Amino acid sequence: MNREKDIKILAIETSCDETAAAVISEVKGEPVILSNVISSSVDLHAQTGGIVPEVASRAQMEFILPVITKALRESRQAVSGDDQKLRNSELGTCDYQQAYESLADISHIAVTAGPGLIGSLLVGFNAAKTLAYTKDLPLIAVNHIEGHIYSAMGGSELGGETITNSQLRTPSFPLIALTVSGGHTLLVLMKDHGDYEILGGTIDDAVGEAYDKVAQLLGLGYPGGPALSKLASEFRDKSEIRSPINFPRPIMRDGTYNFSFSGLKTAVLIYTKKIVAELNLSNPTEIDLATKQEIAAAFEEAVADVLSFKLGKAIEQFEPKTVVFAGGVSANKYLCERLQSKLAEISPNSELRTPSFNLTGDNAAMIGLTAYHHIKNGQVSDWRSAKVDANLKLI
Ligand code: KG4
Ligand code: ZN
Repeated sequence: MNREKDIKILAIETSCDETAAAVISEVKGEPVILSNVISSSVDLHAQTGGIVPEVASRAQMEFILPVITKALRESRQAVSGDDQKLRNSELGTCDYQQAYESLADISHIAVTAGPGLIGSLLVGFNAAKTLAYTKDLPLIAVNHIEGHIYSAMGGSELGGETITNSQLRTPSFPLIALTVSGGHTLLVLMKDHGDYEILGGTIDDAVGEAYDKVAQLLGLGYPGGPALSKLASEFRDKSEIRSPINFPRPIMRDGTYNFSFSGLKTAVLIYTKKIVAELNLSNPTEIDLATKQEIAAAFEEAVADVLSFKLGKAIEQFEPKTVVFAGGVSANKYLCERLQSKLAEISPNSELRTPSFNLTGDNAAMIGLTAYHHIKNGQVSDWRSAKVDANLKLI
């Protein structure tokens, strides 16, 4: 195997409905993102109000080669490659030969090994294995949640912008990471790179899942997290006080680091049913905008209270130097602000890290950033031994 080259990682992520590839290199001992291409099949799932695994894996098959090609090509120019519209029609226009040639610079292949939908994972995993086999390159199998944590720990040269302050990249340990997405809610303590202790996680719905289900109830489409949070911020823009509705804060004071959001979702359902009956509506989507804004704000306040309370307890107990808030839901500005003020109150010298907006959702740059630290720690395997696992655990 060729281990003499400078580090240049081709990373692939296909755990759910995003097909993503990125190239990460090393500048002055820090990982730097050279390209980051994402193609999403979310529009297909909007039609069914949720992800249909087979539809997702078929879309992965359609996008995987164009996305890898684009990531390789753009890594040479270091320009932003975020493209939600890559379609089969582009297959003919991709320069596969040029992309294949640029594989010559790649030193490692990294890929998401799980957790995720098995039909989706297998597409990226087999592409990665094939590339590692044909180019005789080491293969690094990365846990998707670990990827979300590392999404907040990388520099970027996209669009010509170079982050020169290495403080921005290398985190100080101990570190506490709260990862919140459509499929996961996990609170983790990290004492060093690769050294994880799970403090808690959701016992039912993930935060993003609760956002999406409440949004669906109110007729805001799928995935509804951003739309629901927009309604909540509209309420806050016009009101000085909290929402007059008070939803429960499930298991907030149970003394554990676990979370539960399904009861909160049910509380919203019961509340909307009451309004539907009182106003003689046919369903909750007909509720007026002002009331939907109140509901959204009350829901978001409950989520923010629970997340900041539990994170606050963990910060008090473990006194981390760095706190990471990552995953799709970390795109939510209100939640970031609430966690930031909690941190300022309890531990003003600690730093809150959130990923840049384009790295909040699923992407391959985060898989490459994680792989970079695996490589530095000598944790490199090959295509023969790497395994895919839909239920892969962080530890
Ligand atoms: O990380 P991600 O792209 O995919 C998973 O691994 O699940 O997260 C997607 C989730 C969806 O549930 C989406 O509604 C939620 O992140 N989300 C948000 C916001 N933006 C995305 N939830 C609340 N507020 C947002 N601004
Ligand atoms: Zn994810």
